[in-house]
Amino acid sequence: MKCVLALDQGTTSSRSILFDHAGNIRAAAQKEFKQIYPRPGWVEHDPEQIWQTQQFTAKKAMHEAGVHCEDTVALGITNQRETVVVWNRKTGEPVYNAIVWQDRRTADFCAKLKTDGLADTFHKKTGLFLDPYFSGTKIRWILDHVDGARKQAERGELAFGTIDSWLIWKLTRGGAHITDVSNASRTLLFNIHTLQWDSELLELLDIPPSMMPKVRSSSEVYGTVNKFLCECGVRISGMAGDQHAALFGQACFEPGSSKNTYGTGCFLLMNTGSEAVTSNNQLLTTLAWKRGKEINYALEGSIFIGGAVVQWLRDEMGLIQKASDISKLAAEVPDTGGVYFVPAFAGLGAPHWDPAARGTLIGLTRGTGKAHIARAAQEAICFQSLEVLRAMEKDCGTPLPSLRVDGGASVDNLLLQIQADLLQVPVERPAMVETTAFGAAALAGLAVGFWESTDEISNVRKTDRIFEPSISKDEAESRFARWKQAVERCKNWEN
Ligand code: G3P
Repeated sequence: MKCVLALDQGTTSSRSILFDHAGNIRAAAQKEFKQIYPRPGWVEHDPEQIWQTQQFTAKKAMHEAGVHCEDTVALGITNQRETVVVWNRKTGEPVYNAIVWQDRRTADFCAKLKTDGLADTFHKKTGLFLDPYFSGTKIRWILDHVDGARKQAERGELAFGTIDSWLIWKLTRGGAHITDVSNASRTLLFNIHTLQWDSELLELLDIPPSMMPKVRSSSEVYGTVNKFLCECGVRISGMAGDQHAALFGQACFEPGSSKNTYGTGCFLLMNTGSEAVTSNNQLLTTLAWKRGKEINYALEGSIFIGGAVVQWLRDEMGLIQKASDISKLAAEVPDTGGVYFVPAFAGLGAPHWDPAARGTLIGLTRGTGKAHIARAAQEAICFQSLEVLRAMEKDCGTPLPSLRVDGGASVDNLLLQIQADLLQVPVERPAMVETTAFGAAALAGLAVGFWESTDEISNVRKTDRIFEPSISKDEAESRFARWKQAVERCKNWEN
């Protein structure tokens, strides 16, 4: 049995999944790792733990499937994006913890860049906004705050990478310092029109160009896995940021096709083909992937807290025992009883871009119970997705006919029903919701001829269920109006 191995390095866990030629999962393994919160608004990971858990799950999945390495035809990497690792090229040691995409420590610096009138320069070249979400200002923070880091960087001794680069560096034992266009496009340093690191932006952020990885396409043979994982060097041939990989795994190959992934955050992406569309509605322009000479762009709405609100109710509030309990609890009540929950724990992403916003729970009464809060949390995930979808529709000038969904929380029927109700369009769930990992596997498999064409990838994808709207347009609109009021209340809180 020939398989492709996908490494899916996410914000809260590392996962490895083996796919066969029919796109079936032959084995999957997952391991959570520690979230480090040194100060309010700061989020870090231990890069070594990321690597250890990733390695552990890869070995476990291969062992469980009984797949030998000679039958693993390719390996694809997909990853949490924007998260920054800086390491010493000689020792391979990180100089600081990974600074995670959710981290807000550079908010003031971003505000200063805006005051200096630089927002347009960055936006035109990168398709991104000056928000602490992206990698650039985090790299600079490390250079400014870690003892000796800037000097070492200036001497060419340090390497920067997003998690894909870090993993590939580890997998090849320092043999490759590379990234792909999709991950590069999230750094605030990559010109998405010329497909080069931009020297003006590097200079503005005071980042030595020698730290930057080589940028490659998303589907080509980059190298082979060093022997520690398996005896016969498996080819590494696919690489894309997780949301881009999910768009690929959902077979959204045509301009206009879109998907929403319900993971730690929620990320709605629409393929715009070979055109880099500039949003007039606060969405990002991003590189979806590059295969051979073919470049695909996307519009993206990034929501920082999606499934993470459920984890918060479980871990910090103790409202539920396990994440999957949320739906049962929320179903105990027919509505939220007027409660609105805006989980702006890490500020607000699209379409508001307010790093100073903070979470709000509003509309509480003596009658408010756990179930109302659970339901308000689920609605919050859906309202945030609705805001992004509306922005996307404005940018394209046409309503979206339906929405493809995936990610961990998309197994939740109540969540998807609420989503269809609020969006007022059908929501379509595929039979296999591991589309992020599958997208990475597909990119890797296509590069080595395991799959011949994207048509084959489209055929692998099957629909599981379509959720149709079950409330009136008027009701959906009046609830959305209330939500927007709640959002206004949580803005600009930290300033
Ligand atoms: O941009 C951040 C995103 O890539 C994180 O994805 O799946 O870990 O929520 P996830």
